[in-house]
Amino acid sequence: MSKKYLDEVRNCYNLAANEYSRTYINELDQKPFDRNIIDRFSDLLDSQSLIFDFGCGSGQTTNYIHKKNKHKVLGLDFSENSINLARQTLPEIQFEIDDMLNSKMGTATANGIIAFYAIVHFDYEDIKRVMQEWYRLLKDNSYCLFSFHIGEEFVEVQDFLDIKGANATWHLLDTDKVLGIAEEAGFKIMEAIIRYPYKGVEHESKRAYIMLKKEDSSLKSL
Ligand SMILES: C[S@@+](CC[C@H](N)C(=O)[O-])C[C@H]1O[C@@H](n2cnc3c(N)ncnc32)[C@H](O)[C@@H]1O
Repeated sequence: MSKKYLDEVRNCYNLAANEYSRTYINELDQKPFDRNIIDRFSDLLDSQSLIFDFGCGSGQTTNYIHKKNKHKVLGLDFSENSINLARQTLPEIQFEIDDMLNSKMGTATANGIIAFYAIVHFDYEDIKRVMQEWYRLLKDNSYCLFSFHIGEEFVEVQDFLDIKGANATWHLLDTDKVLGIAEEAGFKIMEAIIRYPYKGVEHESKRAYIMLKKEDSSLKSL
């Protein structure tokens, strides 16, 4: 993502942080499929595993995982206002400012990565970059769960959530292309599920939920 687009997306979520939190903080209550796939992801990880929640925004998925009281979860987002708000509303959880395209977190430090609708502003070059980053950050034999909107087009949104100047481009993505990029980065595809929207609850797009495994990386080149 060029610096211009990076700045635009960050600015969009900085401006919309309060409204985003107000609108979405309890969204998972109305999305049984999403809760279920996070539960299954969590079940794959040993207790005390460290999970990075990338593009955590106001921390709804971070809090859902935290409340299980099984793992240590760290919320990461490049929007300073979203992170500051998450720290205020969920003081018992650790949140850090971080750009997932160029993360400051150490190599092979996470047992799991979750990223719900965090790559929705990325083009395929960014997807390639983020897959390499996630592969770098994960330990061997660990898992990644992420979601996105399916489609071919991109949508330019002005005044997101009616906040003046909160502008960004949403990229709808082709599931097979994303899976191909994940495999190229070294991941094994464990699950790829398409679900139709919960009408009246969320934007009416088809959505993809992808579970990846980083196997023993020493076998990657074999
Ligand atoms: C659509 S919101 C999703 C938020 C949250 N995961 C959820 O499900 O409600 C996208 C989030 O990704 C964050 N984001 C976008 N690009 C990012 C990047 N390069 N690094 C870190 N966070 C990013 C945005 O700031 C925003 O909080």
